[in-house]
Amino acid sequence: MRDEGLLTGDPLPEDDAIEIGLRPHRMDEFVGQGALKERLAILIEAARGRGEAIDHVLFSGPPGLGKTSLAGILAAEMNAQFRGTSGPALDRPGDLAAVITNLEAGDVLFIDEIHRLPRQVEEVLYPAMEDFQLDIVVGKGPAARSIKIDLPPFTLVGATTRVGRVAPPLRDRFGYVARIDYYEPGDLAAILHRSSAILEVDITEEGSRTIARRSRGTPRVANRLLRRVRDYAAVRADGHIDEAVADRALEVFEVDGLGLDKVDRAILESVIGKFGGGPVGLSTLAIAVGEEPETVEDAYEPFLLQEGFLQRTPRGRIATERAYEHLGVERIETASPQGSLLE
Ligand SMILES: Nc1ncnc2c1ncn2[C@@H]1O[C@H](COP(=O)(O)OP(=O)(O)OP(=O)(O)O)[C@@H](O)[C@H]1O
Ligand SMILES: [Mg+2]
Repeated sequence: MRDEGLLTGDPLPEDDAIEIGLRPHRMDEFVGQGALKERLAILIEAARGRGEAIDHVLFSGPPGLGKTSLAGILAAEMNAQFRGTSGPALDRPGDLAAVITNLEAGDVLFIDEIHRLPRQVEEVLYPAMEDFQLDIVVGKGPAARSIKIDLPPFTLVGATTRVGRVAPPLRDRFGYVARIDYYEPGDLAAILHRSSAILEVDITEEGSRTIARRSRGTPRVANRLLRRVRDYAAVRADGHIDEAVADRALEVFEVDGLGLDKVDRAILESVIGKFGGGPVGLSTLAIAVGEEPETVEDAYEPFLLQEGFLQRTPRGRIATERAYEHLGVERIETASPQGSLLE
């Protein structure tokens, strides 16, 4: 048995209920990302000054870094209503028309996973974003006619984990495209401090830092690990979390000192042990560790790449020096290592 996805940024079913309580609602509750917050504050203040809706904003970045939270914060700071939907939910142009014709002036329309909007729906969105006009064909065959509806000025906030898959004409219609990066351990510790207060968890500064270091730069992961450590502390300690308790708890859940879990280690071990350090193709690697290629690519690889355990080359993934070191494996030089990556 293994703990499915303890460390993935993707939401697990149990995250939903808890996240509602932990989600920051105002800008000053949103920890870290200082530069991004400053830019958003300027957008908000300027729009408020003019009495207009904020320009359309697109948030991109790995799962669990706060895209949905920020969309809600934009609405709250503008005293606007928040209407949320997602790319896959807007199957046909009519679905979007139904949502969009219900908007009031200044509302924030949030479309999650916007890279998954069908092409025909995207095309309805363009004039809506640009001119606040809905151009839609009603009826079929000879009775079909095109109607135009004026829309109130609204703000579209899109979120995507795959900005490369957002069609360029759509991306260009956003007034501001914001990339959210992984968090520094200090910010994650601050997030854990806030979450602990909300959940009434008794934790020391060092305890927070121990969890923060292993949270893969991701607030959602930090909050999830906090809950596991809290469970451990409740049944194996006296409910109080300090560095030692956090360390033991994370060991029990097989999260190592750098925040790598079993699957991460299996990936690195495969590249090194089965494929001589690489290069190895994504699908071959995925089969070797018993995961779907998309899971390896979206949930595991970004962190391994970011932390310099893996490298992506045109010929596949290769393990870095750091991966060998972390796993404690000797690097065996092969016959012609030099230049082989440049072929
Ligand atoms: N900057 C932050 N400060 C405090 N808590 C945060 C912050 N960012 C994220 N969180 C916490 O992490 C949880 C996940 O964030 P959120 O749902 O906004 O991420 P997301 O980027 O929308 O993820 P996904 O890509 O899966 O939709 C939130 O409920 C909140 O508890
Ligand atoms: Mg989200």
